[in-house]
Amino acid sequence: MISVVGGTGRLGAALVPMLTATGAEVRVVSRRGDLPGGLGGLVRDVVRADVREPASLAAAVAGAELVVSAVHGLTGRGVSPESVDHRGNVALVDAARAGGAGVVLVSVRGAGPAGNELQRAKWRAEEHLRASGIPWTVVRAPAYLELWQDVLRRSAGRGGRPVVLGRGVNPIAMVGVDAVARAVADVCLDDRLRGRVVDLPADQNLTLDALAASISASGTRPRHVPLPVVRALGQLLRPVSPGAARVARLAIWMDTAPLQAPGA
Ligand SMILES: NC(=O)c1ccc[n+]([C@@H]2O[C@H](COP(=O)([O-])OP(=O)(O)OC[C@H]3O[C@@H](n4cnc5c(N)ncnc54)[C@H](OP(=O)(O)O)[C@@H]3O)[C@@H](O)[C@H]2O)c1
Repeated sequence: MISVVGGTGRLGAALVPMLTATGAEVRVVSRRGDLPGGLGGLVRDVVRADVREPASLAAAVAGAELVVSAVHGLTGRGVSPESVDHRGNVALVDAARAGGAGVVLVSVRGAGPAGNELQRAKWRAEEHLRASGIPWTVVRAPAYLELWQDVLRRSAGRGGRPVVLGRGVNPIAMVGVDAVARAVADVCLDDRLRGRVVDLPADQNLTLDALAASISASGTRPRHVPLPVVRALGQLLRPVSPGAARVARLAIWMDTAPLQAPGA
């Protein structure tokens, strides 16, 4: 049985049907304890657990041979990369070890000790997993195209002009979420991939301006929030809204860091 923690998310909801289509028994683990529409009837069971609450994780992994971590704490009330992507994943790895399961950890392109807040948190979780002694695979994925399309669509509102934080001209490695789900499903089902870090390729390099144009009426130009304003928000919002401040800092990174995938 494969326990998919984060099975309700964008990736998880694409992954679960791919796994069940192969005949695998699948459990979905989430904080909500219910399922998005399309998953009803497909899975063996649904377990309510929170990776920030280690005591909830024994039930999440009980009976599983493999646990997939498809969670993140980049956005959302009361979560952070540190609490979910680092410490939450550490607790999940420890629970999997106690329950006799292996772990497939979904991580991010560029995870490392000198990356941004999310890349550092994922890296620490990766390091814990690699040292755990249990069967493991890390899958590092570029940005999901559909997420950024949705973010821009939501920002457009009734006026129909998406809002881009920053200049919007930095090429960013992106991949469709179905390709990531397919790759994670393949990793789950192939024991020869244990003990490896799998770096998924990008489909394309896209600027946020190009992405905004692709979801807007022809000739519509996005609105831009100038970088200095985004920088100020990233600092000023810290005490009042750490999540919004984090989004602003992520936007600066997306607008300025070298994020192009060679050959995509
Ligand atoms: N989005 C991207 O561009 C991108 C790029 C590279 C890698 N990734 C990685 O791909 C994976 C999936 O990302 P996604 O974009 O599909 O995420 P998503 O749609 O935002 O879903 C996040 C999932 O994490 C679960 N979750 C969040 N906090 C949790 C907690 N404290 N305890 C238990 N579950 C929790 C949520 O479940 P409930 O809300 O139901 O509890 C949800 O199923 C993540 O590991 C992410 O880091 C994403």
